[in-house]
Amino acid sequence: MSNSSTTNVTFTLNSGGRLSGTARVPGDKSISHRSIMLGSLAEGTTEVSGFLEGEDSLATLKAFQAMGVQIEGPDNGKVMIRGVGLHGLKKPDDDLYLGNSGTSMRLMCGLLAGQQFNTVLTGDKSLSSRPMRRVIDPLMQMGAALGATQNGTSPITVSVSESLHGIDYTLPVASAQIKSCLLLAGLYADGKTCVTEPAPTRDHTERMLQGFGYTVHRDGAKVCLRGKGHLQATSIDVPADISSAAFFMVGASIAEGSDVTLEHVGINPTRTGVIDILRLMGANIEIFNEREVGGEPVADIRIRSSQLKGINIPEELVPLAIDEFPVLFVAASCSSGQTILTGAKELRVKESDRIQVMADGLQIMGIDAQPTEDGIVIQGGRLQGGTVTSHGDHRISMSFAMAALCCQDDVTIEDCANVDTSFPGFVSLASQLGLSIFSE
Ligand code: S3P
Repeated sequence: MSNSSTTNVTFTLNSGGRLSGTARVPGDKSISHRSIMLGSLAEGTTEVSGFLEGEDSLATLKAFQAMGVQIEGPDNGKVMIRGVGLHGLKKPDDDLYLGNSGTSMRLMCGLLAGQQFNTVLTGDKSLSSRPMRRVIDPLMQMGAALGATQNGTSPITVSVSESLHGIDYTLPVASAQIKSCLLLAGLYADGKTCVTEPAPTRDHTERMLQGFGYTVHRDGAKVCLRGKGHLQATSIDVPADISSAAFFMVGASIAEGSDVTLEHVGINPTRTGVIDILRLMGANIEIFNEREVGGEPVADIRIRSSQLKGINIPEELVPLAIDEFPVLFVAASCSSGQTILTGAKELRVKESDRIQVMADGLQIMGIDAQPTEDGIVIQGGRLQGGTVTSHGDHRISMSFAMAALCCQDDVTIEDCANVDTSFPGFVSLASQLGLSIFSE
């Protein structure tokens, strides 16, 4: 199957410039995945607007089509899902190929563990090296039958099991993907499934289950549901992805004379760590027009440039900004003083080892960036520019693109095809806002 990582894309950027204007970045990736999953398992037709037409969420969409769900679109962000109910999925003819998407694979392990047919889940090179035992082990405690390679990586085989039963599980790492996987398996389990998280993680699954009329109980750090209920179709308005907005929040902060407004951005409190961290660094961020769409808070966000300063990033903010660290490292590089991140070991098992890959690239650009086991120490300074590689990681590509705004020399970023997994149209939107970026 073709995927973006088979084609080579290089970004080149002229150094300097500033960002200005108003834009809406594409839909939230986490919510888009979940809209397809829950819409498919619901009774009735679910209409989605603002769906992310990126490769990751399209991988989820295609997987459910392969299991017999009629899904129309996406057409300008609109998707119509004819739900088949919790027990209406059909055995796919082939393995389910999930591209670069860890969210698809981990959440689907839980959901597929409850089906009456076997499935095999595969992914690209990056996804095939990511840890899957973190979901397989608790699912097996629930009575599921899953297999992986000796390293605990995909391909994953999910086999029919006699029955699933609820468990009371404490997550060893703060991960919304593991939590969501177990809650989705819990829909098929006898009794109650409870997940306790060591720190708050994104709660889109819990919110959306409730939107589909399913009862979910939260008591502090513990979230529980009972199996064998049903989901009632609904309509979903997907907010713009704060993780995509984050590139322009940092870009506008570091490029003198910038003034950018981002519209309809999801500001779920389990996702806004990037705003808190940037504000601690001295960023000028205004949140206005706050409203709620389909159970998720959204707002417009205005960012004007300011002189940032280095900080010690509070560890409790780490899970709330987990996908935004590559671009926050760029902000730290353009700040005065030192930024220290700790408690972020998870960054080493994302689409790439984001601590190492960012440290390597920033060093090439002339910054003193020292990786540690669970974080990084960055001395703010003068970025020179140069040629860096993203190692096929979408967020690394877009982060280095923003770095060009405060570089002395031009920047070349290799291996950028996977930007399409989360941010289709990045180059044209970034150009529209003033970034001098070219893709070839
Ligand atoms: C996601 C959860 C996070 C995040 C990922 C999307 C989700 O992963 O990094 O991009 O949609 O649940 P972890 O839960 O493993 O931290």
